[in-house]
Amino acid sequence: MSVPPSDTATLSLRRPDDWHLHLRDGAALRAVLPFTVTRFARAIVMPNLDPPITTSAAALAYRERIRAALPAGARFEPLMTLYLTDETSAEEIRRAHASSAVAGCKLYPAGATTHSAAGVRDVGHLQAALEAMTEVDLPLLVHGEVVDARVDIFEREARFIEQVLAPLVERYARLRVVLEHVSTRAGVQFVRSARPGVAATVTPQHLLFNRNALFAGGLRPHLYCLPVLKSEPDRRALIEAIAAGDARFFLGTDSAPHARHAKESACGCAGVFSAHAALELYAEAFEREGMLARLPAFASEFGADFYHLPRNEERVTLERSPWTVPAIYPFGAGELVPLGAGESIGWRLQPPVTGAAPAGAAAAGTSP
Ligand code: NCD
Ligand code: ZN
Ligand code: ZN
Repeated sequence: MSVPPSDTATLSLRRPDDWHLHLRDGAALRAVLPFTVTRFARAIVMPNLDPPITTSAAALAYRERIRAALPAGARFEPLMTLYLTDETSAEEIRRAHASSAVAGCKLYPAGATTHSAAGVRDVGHLQAALEAMTEVDLPLLVHGEVVDARVDIFEREARFIEQVLAPLVERYARLRVVLEHVSTRAGVQFVRSARPGVAATVTPQHLLFNRNALFAGGLRPHLYCLPVLKSEPDRRALIEAIAAGDARFFLGTDSAPHARHAKESACGCAGVFSAHAALELYAEAFEREGMLARLPAFASEFGADFYHLPRNEERVTLERSPWTVPAIYPFGAGELVPLGAGESIGWRLQPPVTGAAPAGAAAAGTSP
């Protein structure tokens, strides 16, 4: 993943936020959290635990476990999400809003992805919840794929948009909606032509790779995620939206750690782990496409604006200084294979200025 030479030596930007992140729980949480905390000020934490985070009470308890796992002195704000089911009530939505800990509600079509079995079987059943979300202005975050096994896996995002998302966006005309991990030209076109209040997160893997990478020299389980990597024209559509400076497209890594043995399996889990170098990987992708100047707003402004949160005032600096991604990281009792394992990345996050950092902040220093 080497970058072409350029005379930009450093890039300074507001501290970014990750608007789509899987932190897991327990030992896995403790293993991955420091990577995110080193880079990001806030993150939208996905609720697809087992069992899922379906209530405000569960979201608050999960937020406490995340806070308890923070490296000493670290400043990081977990923004919690509720996992919608066919049974989610309007009262639960109002409780979530009143808690002020919950920043959005997540729609997983049942069976679409990791730990989605308890998800939504029929969006018709969500009417009360969606009306309450509209009323309290709580955004709907969507895993946008149909689950019908007869539908080609590369078409599932487009079918979901036609069958579910476009009608939903029209029916709930004031509901704010994020098409998470947008992966197709159809998805990009939908967001770009949608009414105000519709946006999308974009992952590093969907910017860096097309589906050929899944089969380059053999099967690459560590590049398998959902939505699965798409064609080159699809990847180009994501790049074009970002290159145009479109504020509806912002950073959401979808960093989704699974133990190595669960990925390197006859039935491997979906999910790419990218938190170890999230910002650096985006810098790599943006530079490769000649749009590095678009990184600060994509990473640090558009998402905060969408969520009606202040932009971070603190700054971080990326420097052009190649480093090699480790082959594995520890992951509780197991191992984690990171995106770009064993390969070179052209950008490095500068460590925080010592002296200014709070005592113990170095404990979060997991950047290489
Ligand atoms: C995510 C996970 O592992 O939790 N996996 C993935 O491939 N993206 C779930 C999700 O975001 O769909
Ligand atoms: Zn998803
Ligand atoms: Zn995800």
